[in-house]
Formats: sequence, structure tokens, C-alpha cells
Amino acid sequence: MKVLEINGGKTLEGTIRISGSKNSSVALIPAAILADSEVTICNVPEITDTDALTEILNYLGANVKRASESIVIDPSTIVNKEIPEEMSSKLRASYYFMSVLLAKFGHVEMHFPGGCSIGARPIDQTLKGFKALGATISEEEDRYIIDADKLTGAHVYLDMPSVGATINTMLVAVKAHGKTIIENAAKEPEIVNVATFLNNMGAKITGAGTSEIKITGVEKLEGCYTEVIPDRIETGTYIIAGALMGNHLKIDNIIPEHVEMLILKMQEMGVDIEVGPDFVIVSKTESLHPVKIKTQGYPGFATDLQQPVTVLLTQCEGDSILEETVYENRFKNVPYLNQMGANIEVFEKKIKIHGLTPLQGEKVEATDLRAGACLVLAGLIADGITTISNIGPVLRGYEHLVEKLTDVGASISLKEV
Ligand code: EPU
Repeated sequence: MKVLEINGGKTLEGTIRISGSKNSSVALIPAAILADSEVTICNVPEITDTDALTEILNYLGANVKRASESIVIDPSTIVNKEIPEEMSSKLRASYYFMSVLLAKFGHVEMHFPGGCSIGARPIDQTLKGFKALGATISEEEDRYIIDADKLTGAHVYLDMPSVGATINTMLVAVKAHGKTIIENAAKEPEIVNVATFLNNMGAKITGAGTSEIKITGVEKLEGCYTEVIPDRIETGTYIIAGALMGNHLKIDNIIPEHVEMLILKMQEMGVDIEVGPDFVIVSKTESLHPVKIKTQGYPGFATDLQQPVTVLLTQCEGDSILEETVYENRFKNVPYLNQMGANIEVFEKKIKIHGLTPLQGEKVEATDLRAGACLVLAGLIADGITTISNIGPVLRGYEHLVEKLTDVGASISLKEV
């Protein structure tokens, strides 16, 4: 079994360069299928989630080449067949294949997608979008058979601004006949990245990044070039690392606007942070003030940064409140933080962090991706050795995590035990 071992207390100095966004890449890779010729996607992170999607593309018969940070996909040889459950259950984003296969072939058979166990994560809004555009869906024990002789543009109102449902509806609507309007759409930057990619292929999408997206369907989409935006959750995770242990730690190649809410909260805490056009420089600061944080869809405070930021809240002098509004079960990191010396009370949808508490190294487990990121941050400030088991979920989302942290002075390594 592989574990992450961290010897805490080391100052972090130098520069961390942020990779391409996981949550953009995992949508752009399936979206490539919609083109009739070769597509190049640049700045794709080398993480297990992108590997899993490449495996699905290969299974479907696409020609995929990986050249350093780029991935070149020729989808012209693709065939429509059911993706085996062991492939689709590896990650949430496998359900983007549902929409692109439906849009391209008018028929798809697939199982319920995988993903971190952080709440129920239903896909009803995605299915609602498919139905509105004319698809019929039959479901047998978490396996979906979806058909559409003809996809026709429609007015789709999402009950909540779901990232997945917004992207899935967009992916189908680009090839539907006529105009689709998605109301109450999610506004995350990853959605803009996907829309830009599809427009580069020849799609007609306006309004991505707002709550109303308009799509006029087109007959053909052609190969093109696109670039993945910097990962805003990786950005936020390392900014927090800098606030915990940094000495002028530079987080480079970022879009500061995408982490604005985190930066504002950190300024409210009193963190020493300088914001540049595409970087921030952040240092460990004494006497941090407690704050209240509530997770929300973009541009609100990202739920994916909720677990990482908890570590910083343990270092604020006084009681902070963190409210999770997106997922029902995203506090699995808390018992481990308490084991390390934190004093956190869990209520139904909130936690109360009583700071300031020093942390000490312990044997802990990464229950999900961002819980793992939280425990890495905790390990960086803890006294002694922290050993994190079940690191698979962490490696799903952070490219070269060990190398990036080692390069700026952390003592962190992957060990076989
Ligand atoms: N929801 C429904 N029905 C739906 C869709 C969503 O009830 O049909 C609910 C979900 O259960 C959840 C909320 O709406 O409570 C938000 O879900 P959303 O669809 O927005 O999330 P997602 O598309 O499944 C993506 C990211 C998540 C990130 C969320 C929110 C990917 C692959 N995943 O998930 O990323 O938390 O958006 O920003 O893009 C992560 O990276 O750690 C991660 C979990």
C-alpha cells in the first residue's frame, strides 16, 4: 500500500506553478468526441482522472496521443458501445460521455457515474436536460439506456445551478436542431472553458459564465485547438499552504479572479498576501482572525476549497464557522483533524472550529480528494510525521503533488508500506 509521509514544520519558499484544471479537462476530453476531426487540448494535467478518460476514449476506438502537456484526440474512428462499468465508475466525469455519445449517435447505454463519496450526487438535472431536448430514458438498476431519434432545442430550467447538468445539456444542445436556453445555469469558469472549446469547433454558444446560456445547434463540429484554464482548486490549495507555512511563496500561472472569494476571506483573516496579474505571493502570518465561510456555486466560496481551508481556520485565534451548502457529507476530514489536535465541532451542515490549536503528526486516511488535500496541508504544519493512507483520491486531482511541494521545501514523500 502506498502512503504519503509528511514531516511537518518546514518553511515553503520559491514558486509553485499551477497545472491545468482537472474539472475542465475531464469535460474537454469527452467533448472532443463531438468533433469530426482531430482536436488538440493543451495544458492537460497528468492525473489519474485524465488517464481514466483517455482509457475510455481508447476503448471507444479514438486515436489518442499524449505529448507532454497536450493531448491530441482523433475521434473520427469512434464507435458507439457501452462503456464498461469498471471504467465509468472510476470518476464522476464519465457521465460527460453520456451526452456526447447521445449527441453524436442518438443512443447511449451507460451506468451511473463514479466520483468522491461526499453526498448523494444524483444526475436528475442532467436527465431532465436530455428529456427536454427529446431523449427517452429507461433506467435499470443504475444503468441508463437513452435514445433520441431527433434532438430538438428547448428551454431547460435547472432546479439548481449544477455544473455537471449545465455542461451535459450544453454538450447535447450544440448538435440539436434549433435553439436551447439553459436557465439557472452554473457559472463556474470550467463551463466557460468548455463553451469556448465547443465554439472553437464551430458551435454557437453565448452566455457561458452567466446563469442563462443560449445555444443554437449546428450540423457539424470540426477539430480545433484549445487550452485548459489553470486549476482554481489546486491554486487555492497551494495559496492556503503558503498562508500556513510560506515565506513569500509564489503561486504562479493562475487566474486570481477565479479564487477571489478565497483571497477575500484570507484578507479578512489578516493573511499577508500580494495579488499580481497571474500570481499571488503569500506568507505565513501570525495572529489570524476567525471568519465565517459559507460554500456556494461560483463566484461564491468553492465547496472544493472548504476542506483545505479548514486547516487554516484551526490556526485562527478564536471560533470560525464553516457552512457547507453544496454537499451533505463533506466533513469526513474533521475526525482526522481532531485526531491531530484540532478542536472542531460538527453540526448538521456546519462546523465550528475553535482556534488556535497546534497540530501533531498522526496516521490518517484520505477519505476523498479534497479531504486528502486538507490532510496534506495539516501534515505540513503538524509537529512530527503525518502518514496519509488511501492516497488514490488525492492523486486523482493534484498533478505532481509530491514534486511541487518538495521543490518549495516541504518534506513529503510517497512510501510503500
Ligand atoms: N445535484 C443534484 N442533481 C443533479 C446534479 C447535481 O441534486 O442532477 C446536486 C448535487 O448532489 C450537489 C450539487 O447539486 O449537491 C452540485 O452538484 P454539481 O452538479 O454542480 O457538481 P458536479 O458537476 O457533480 C463538479 C465538480 C465537483 C465540484 C462541483 C461543484 C467535476 C468533475 N466535479 O461536480 O468537484 O464540487 O462541480 O463545484 O467537475 C472536486 O473536484 O473535488 C469535486 C467534487
